[in-house]
Amino acid sequence: MDLHLTVSGRHGLATQLYRQLRDAILEGRIRSGDNLPPTRELADRLKVSRNTVTAAYERLTSEGFLSARVGSGTFVRSPIAPAEQRRNALSGTGLRPLPVWDRVTVGPERPARKPAFDFRAGIPDARLFPFAAWRRLVTRELHSAENRKALYQEPSGLLRLRQAIARHVGVARSIQATAEDILITNGTQQALDLIGRVLWEPGAVVAMEDPGYPMARLLFQSQGARVHPVPLDAEGLAVDALPENAAVVYTTPSHQFPLGMPMSLARRMALLSWAERRRAAIIEDDYDSEFRFDDRPLEPLQSLDRGGRVIYVGSFSKTLLPELRVGYLIAPPSIRPALRAAKALTDWHSPLTTQAALARFMEEGLLARHVRRARKEYQSRRDRLVSAIERHLGTWAEPAPSVAGLHLCALFRDERLHADEVARAANAEGIAVYPLSRFSTAPTPPQGLVLGYGGIPVNRIDEGVRRLAAVLAATR
Ligand SMILES: Cc1ncc(COP(=O)(O)O)c(C=O)c1O
Repeated sequence: MDLHLTVSGRHGLATQLYRQLRDAILEGRIRSGDNLPPTRELADRLKVSRNTVTAAYERLTSEGFLSARVGSGTFVRSPIAPAEQRRNALSGTGLRPLPVWDRVTVGPERPARKPAFDFRAGIPDARLFPFAAWRRLVTRELHSAENRKALYQEPSGLLRLRQAIARHVGVARSIQATAEDILITNGTQQALDLIGRVLWEPGAVVAMEDPGYPMARLLFQSQGARVHPVPLDAEGLAVDALPENAAVVYTTPSHQFPLGMPMSLARRMALLSWAERRRAAIIEDDYDSEFRFDDRPLEPLQSLDRGGRVIYVGSFSKTLLPELRVGYLIAPPSIRPALRAAKALTDWHSPLTTQAALARFMEEGLLARHVRRARKEYQSRRDRLVSAIERHLGTWAEPAPSVAGLHLCALFRDERLHADEVARAANAEGIAVYPLSRFSTAPTPPQGLVLGYGGIPVNRIDEGVRRLAAVLAATR
């Protein structure tokens, strides 16, 4: 047998040899019945003493990996079946994830080179973030951490932060909530994960808008939910098209993701009474509505709800930075203890330094000031983008109405235009855009582009859209 074995150094040689032989047996590189070289021969080959080899063989024999037959040598006795050995040898491991994970591919995507014109949706402008103030507050919290005991904290989150959020949503979103109603999470993503753990069994039907937010859809599917796509019209989610058996509806009523329309008041009322009749839950994802430009915002579902059916989810990923990983949920009292327990079981609680710094940031009025400044900036980018689309892309596309947030859609007038192809060609030219189809599971998704303006300065927008028009003209 010509098995590759090496030992090095002067100590632990028998252990090194033992491990290599054991791994070779477990990985199927040597099989049951294979004859190992005699101890003297292997000792000569490895330039070690015969005792070293004997010690390794004896240990493997005592563990049942080898058997010695007087007169005929030492043989392998593998504890696992040959087919399994072969599989292990091929894959390097016997572990396989559940099939659902084969379908999950997640970002973040890093373009090969920095795009010259970055229209990716969902990213705020980090240059607007008040880093100096944040640094001061984090440093201060770290100083006070030095004098604290190293204890686990309250799973629902720091009380001061929950109080600050209750005040904030009261003013900004007309939501009546107290600190007790709020649970701090690591972003929307964890809020959705906790809700799923608490509310549904594998196989439950979760209805969500299509096109919609892929990170929510994939998360629900990974938890064993059957996700049912629901179409949209100008008023938002088509309540008439909800499946009878849905246990939960996930929706983005303030600024539909990604199409941008708000859900009309009539539709909100229809959705609430549907949920009441079906005893279903509604997850209201209010991810970017603090950046609202034109009209007065409609009441959130949460504040219209009389039946305790709505779980409101908010995030600081757009108002501040996604990397902070801070979000929150406001749940009806009936599921609060379970959500708190789920949070504790998942990760005990969110990092305290960030929570404490954010509480102070809000108490000092810095969040409100930052949102005011950023809103003005994003509004001028949104206006510039709308006029650039009308000017340069008007032949092929029209901007979908959008009064909030950090992105809008340019919908193709001709359904035969392929947004995937356009987006691919644009990306190759250094213009980062997403096709609308990326957010849909429909066999014939709406054709258009999702254009974010968080990552592009106002004075680059017109030129970016002009170049995008050139790409569109060339791909037709
Ligand atoms: C619809 C929607 N919800 C929520 C979020 C924010 O998620 P998180 O708070 O996990 O960063 C995003 C970010 O792109 C989003 O598009």
